[in-house]
Amino acid sequence: MSFPQDRPRRLRTSPAMRRLVAETRLHPADFILPLFVKETVDEPTPIASMPGVLQHTLGSVRKAAAEAVAEGLGGVMLFAVPAHKDARGSAGTDPHGILQRALSEVREEVGDRIVIMSDLCLDEFTDHGHCGVLRADGSVDNDATLERYGEMAVRQAEAGAHMLGPSGMMDGQVGYVRGVLDESGLQDTAILAYSAKYASAFFGPFRDAVESSLQGDRRTYQQDPANALESLREVRLDVAEGADMVMVKPAMSYLDVVRQVTDAVDVPVAAYQVSGEYAMVEAAAANGWLDRERTILETLTSVRRAGATSVLTYWAVEAARML
Ligand code: PBG
Repeated sequence: MSFPQDRPRRLRTSPAMRRLVAETRLHPADFILPLFVKETVDEPTPIASMPGVLQHTLGSVRKAAAEAVAEGLGGVMLFAVPAHKDARGSAGTDPHGILQRALSEVREEVGDRIVIMSDLCLDEFTDHGHCGVLRADGSVDNDATLERYGEMAVRQAEAGAHMLGPSGMMDGQVGYVRGVLDESGLQDTAILAYSAKYASAFFGPFRDAVESSLQGDRRTYQQDPANALESLREVRLDVAEGADMVMVKPAMSYLDVVRQVTDAVDVPVAAYQVSGEYAMVEAAAANGWLDRERTILETLTSVRRAGATSVLTYWAVEAARML
């Protein structure tokens, strides 16, 4: 009779033993809560494809931010749905535009008690739904878009954002935005670069959230899901251009990229658990096919285990309460 020499199961015998040896722990400060604000609603409005997520009013977004503070979250990331969209995304650079107003309301409400972030991109504001301005032939004009991002960055920082999230995947966007912020005396405004952002089907429900009807697709600027090396190049460029943090997006289908990026750079790495990842779990749980809470915590733990410091997640408040 021969007995096993090694018994890894000993460290799994009780909850106390498992807790002792857990290599990854979740903390509310790991989570960043994305928040949507809509200009034309009088009451918080549910988003059909993201059950439990709301389009906020200026009043309700203040409360949501205060709740994020109360739960000890690391940050909130603001997105806005303007009343009017046009080809240039004018509302994005209007000092009284909905995103700027939401940022100043939130800043007034929570001050510096949580990191206030804003999405720095044009797709929420353009009528064609692309992340930049278009040339006559319909292609996205990289350098003309940078000028729009520079203007937006100053407006968002002046409105109260602590950290800006350039998310349009234009070449040179981090360096350009950093330069404009510095020239404008906004040296302390940080940049969380959406460095490795894929042309992903998992952004589907987000289009409902910001009411974007995209014409065409984003494959000329967002990355091909087939590539990982390309992400390393993108994050290295962004760090060299002045990114304070970098992001991989989506999270769950790109955990290998999260790991490689974490190993490659010396800045904190965030991963965005996007709308489709959220919707997928919510739909399965609503059918009784998944244990909702266990699944949520497992996905968040996986992202942290892959190396990310922060996770943008629509479950931020709920997950913080589960811990
Ligand atoms: C761009 C942006 C998008 C998301 C965050 N920032 C949409 C896109 O690039 O297509 C998606 C977030 C999500 O799906 O949860 N402004």
